[in-house]
Amino acid sequence: MVSKKVLKLLNEQVALEGESSQIYLAMATWADVNGFRGTAAFMYRQAEEERGHMQKFIKFINDLTEHAEIGGIKEPKADYKDIEEVFRAALEHEELITAAIAKIFTTARENNDYAVTSFLKWFIDEQVEEEAAVKRVLDIIRMAGKVSIYLADKEIGALHGGK
Ligand SMILES: [Fe+2]
Ligand SMILES: [Fe+2]
Repeated sequence: MVSKKVLKLLNEQVALEGESSQIYLAMATWADVNGFRGTAAFMYRQAEEERGHMQKFIKFINDLTEHAEIGGIKEPKADYKDIEEVFRAALEHEELITAAIAKIFTTARENNDYAVTSFLKWFIDEQVEEEAAVKRVLDIIRMAGKVSIYLADKEIGALHGGK
C-alpha cells in the first residue's frame, strides 16, 4: 500500500526518467552529426541508463501492486551551439531530477511509505554520481579551452618583432 500522493509522484518520475532518456538521445544525435564522437558515445550510454531508471520505477510501482503509468514525453531540444551547452543543459536537467527524487523521498517519509524511501536510496546515490560525472566533463571542456590558450601563448612567444 502506497499513499496516493506518493504514487502520483512515482508515476511522474517514470515520465521524467523517460524524458531524460529522450533528451540524452537528442544530445547524442546532435553530437553524432556534428562530429563529436566522444560526446555522442557518452550521451548514447546516458540515454540507455535513463531508460533503465524509467524501467526501475515502472517495475517498482507494479511490484507495489499498483499500475505504472507510461506518460507522454515532450519532444526534446534538437540543436545545440557547442558541447559546453550540451553538458550545461545536462547538468541543469540532472539537478532537476535530483530535486524531483528528493521531493518523492520527503513526501514518502511524511506519509510513512518506507518501501519507497528505501527504494529511492539507490537513486539518491545515483544522482550524486551523475551530477559529478557531468561536472567532470565540464571541467574537461574548461581545461581543453585552456590548452588552446596555452598553444596560442606559445606561438605569441615565438613571434619576433610583432610579425
Ligand atoms: Fe535517471
Ligand atoms: Fe540521470
